[in-house]
Amino acid sequence: MKNILVTGGAGFIGSNFIRYVLTQDSAVQVINLDLLTYAGSLENLNDLPDPARHTFIHGDICDGDLVGKILRDHQVDTIVNFAAESHVDRSIEGPMPFVQTNVIGTTTLLEEAKKYWLLEGNKPAKEVRFHHISTDEVFGALIPGDPAWTEEIPYKPNSPYAASKAASDHLVQAYGHTYGLPITITNCSNNYGPYQFPEKLIPLMIQNALQGKALPVYGDGQQIRDWLYVDDHCLAIWLVVKNGRVGETYNIGGGNQPTNLELVKMICRILDDLLPDSENIPHEDLITFVKDRPGHDFRYDMNFNKIMEELGWQPSLDLESGLRKTIDWYLNAGEWMKNIHQESDLQSWMEKNYQNRENS
Ligand code: NAD
Ligand code: TYD
Repeated sequence: MKNILVTGGAGFIGSNFIRYVLTQDSAVQVINLDLLTYAGSLENLNDLPDPARHTFIHGDICDGDLVGKILRDHQVDTIVNFAAESHVDRSIEGPMPFVQTNVIGTTTLLEEAKKYWLLEGNKPAKEVRFHHISTDEVFGALIPGDPAWTEEIPYKPNSPYAASKAASDHLVQAYGHTYGLPITITNCSNNYGPYQFPEKLIPLMIQNALQGKALPVYGDGQQIRDWLYVDDHCLAIWLVVKNGRVGETYNIGGGNQPTNLELVKMICRILDDLLPDSENIPHEDLITFVKDRPGHDFRYDMNFNKIMEELGWQPSLDLESGLRKTIDWYLNAGEWMKNIHQESDLQSWMEKNYQNRENS
């Protein structure tokens, strides 16, 4: 593995992954193809170690000619596909961009990889890898008492986001099965950590709490997610790309099950602790229950025994330590937050999403 094409590398997990890879292997060159949608920003790549080994290309994974040219120009041997529309609430508001990027975009990447690597014979199949980043949400939703999902559980996606990711996973599998493209897939639970766009639960709650604004908990807040610190996800991906078995999928999870309400309360307690002089103490008083998300999945829970047993991976941070690290980062990220607000549609999205909820 020498020349890695990372798609969506200006987003939350992709930018953390690039930072991670550049510190892990000094021989690797990273080519980062990103459309810089509302969720992507060069601000997320400001502090790269050894930036000379990172090449940014502004463009769309749906553009086959561009993808083909990048593969040829940079003699790409590894693709790690993060690029996606990733927010469930936005997929409920408008599913088409999710189908476009997650399904058409992924298929375009697969097609170009197949042409360049296999049909044109530019790289021996044993030296290339197409790795696709997916989510636990493809499995649907658990109810109390259900066991955690293993890799064998059939897909049953509920939201338009989850359905578009499921479709892309199936296409990745189909290219492996039909054309012999060397693929791997990882399905991971909810991530959190530095550089997460503040429309997602954890950074949104931190941001609002710091400003003394309401903390909008959907429904009764009893839904459960399995949270993983982003660096742990990056390590897991790296292990699978390097040592995972071709054609396999690997589940990745954090091994914790707080309700959304418990999680928001944890964030509030950590903020009380870190900011003893804040006028918003106790931050818990800012919690507000708002109209639920339509079709809100109740619980996600990942069984990640396979990656533990085959590749020796497990989460290194517990939720409390990861949250402290994350909150500490956001407390020092005022400039980043200001720039993200200026260059994205965050303000109008927040007004639209949360006004609808309050008005109901
Ligand atoms: P994100 O929304 O922060 O970043 C997505 C990035 O993709 C952005 O930089 C955006 O500009 C780019 N992008 C979007 N459309 C593109 C296109 N057509 N061409 C090129 N670039 C495009 O997302 P994230 O949270 O970093 O998630 C990354 C991946 O991980 C996604 O595939 C997501 O489904 C998956 N995932 C996320 C989580 C999570 O908790 N965030 C959990 C499991 C899996
Ligand atoms: P989110 O971060 O959007 O991730 P996902 O929907 O992919 O799991 O949401 C995490 C959980 O938090 C989910 O159950 C919805 C809930 N949530 C709220 O209660 N309030 C909010 O403002 C947001 C954004 C999410």
